Amino acid sequence: MRCARPWPRPKVSLPTFFVRDVPIYGDVVLAPMDGITDPPFRALGRLLGSAMAYTEFIHAVDVLQRPQWVWRRLRPRAWEAPLVVQLYGHTVSLLVEAARRVQDQLGPAIIDINMGCPDPSIVRRGAGAGMLRSPLKIARLFRRLTQVLDVPVTAKIRLGLDEGCKPYRLIARVLEENGAALLAVHARTQAQGYRGQADWEAIAEIVSLVRIPVLGNGDVRTPEDIARMKRTTGVAGVMIGRGALANPWLLARCPRDAVPIEEVRRVLRWHLRANIQHYGPQRGLVLFRKFAARYLAPYPAFQARRRALLTLEDPVSFLDAVDAVLAEAAASGTTPGPREPS
Ligand SMILES: Cc1cc2nc3c(=O)[nH]c(=O)nc-3n(C[C@H](O)[C@H](O)[C@H](O)COP(=O)(O)O)c2cc1C
Repeated sequence: MRCARPWPRPKVSLPTFFVRDVPIYGDVVLAPMDGITDPPFRALGRLLGSAMAYTEFIHAVDVLQRPQWVWRRLRPRAWEAPLVVQLYGHTVSLLVEAARRVQDQLGPAIIDINMGCPDPSIVRRGAGAGMLRSPLKIARLFRRLTQVLDVPVTAKIRLGLDEGCKPYRLIARVLEENGAALLAVHARTQAQGYRGQADWEAIAEIVSLVRIPVLGNGDVRTPEDIARMKRTTGVAGVMIGRGALANPWLLARCPRDAVPIEEVRRVLRWHLRANIQHYGPQRGLVLFRKFAARYLAPYPAFQARRRALLTLEDPVSFLDAVDAVLAEAAASGTTPGPREPS
């Protein structure tokens, strides 16, 4: 199989689902990832087919104490819409005030509350997945947020804290009853972190319990996984994290080994240029290295030059080295070549 060029995205005439009154076109969504879904990668995600643009999570206290830093970091573009700004925190009043300021300053389509971060230092304070311990606090938070904000408010949850504490059924109901307009479910517990198998049956259970749209998340790595999660759980959409980092074309339902090398080259260059525009040449290239390593991972020619390539400090030499890897990969013919799909 070889994938057709996935952008510009095909026009979809009818919304796939609504987040309250916000129409969503498409059923695949790039997951929020700290250090990954910055403005350039979000933009790429939207171009390749993500139906929504989730930001990295932002601490409510940062919004209140150093707003200029937050606005610079998020710097959304109009064409990213629908933009979802994700906040985390543990104090209802601070989260509500931060959400109000984000709404007024950035005009996102949706504000999302993170209830899934497993980092012990965040959970201990009752934020991230720590929120799942307090259904009453969640109820108060969502009641206040939906009273104060004009935009829809959504939540991203895990199933619970560990095997002995999985209150996802109750939390889903509490969220819906208190005005949440969508629920994204990472089907693991906090204790699992990012390991172990995601429990898609729990996602299906949540879908059957609530009427708001649910995004299923966890262990989606191939186009077949997207189809299987939709079929077996009934979710409105599929949210993809690490799978889209390894293969951004997964957002266009394209398996990595079907992406022509010329398309990899084009997207890599586009992404690096966007990084340099956003961060400046030096930082833009340094922050791009983790993405470059993933774009080039499938090619044996990269493994031999990995260290040398990823330590280059000048974008022109960097792109020359990338071209050398891709040319060698195309010549070896072990992966799809630079021809366009027939
Ligand atoms: C590097 C990294 C950073 C993440 N940062 C966030 C975040 O800021 N907000 C959030 O809700 N989830 C975050 N997540 C969790 C992902 O959104 C997603 O729920 C998780 O990776 C499971 O999906 P996957 O199996 O498709 O990767 C992060 C995950 C990773 C790997």
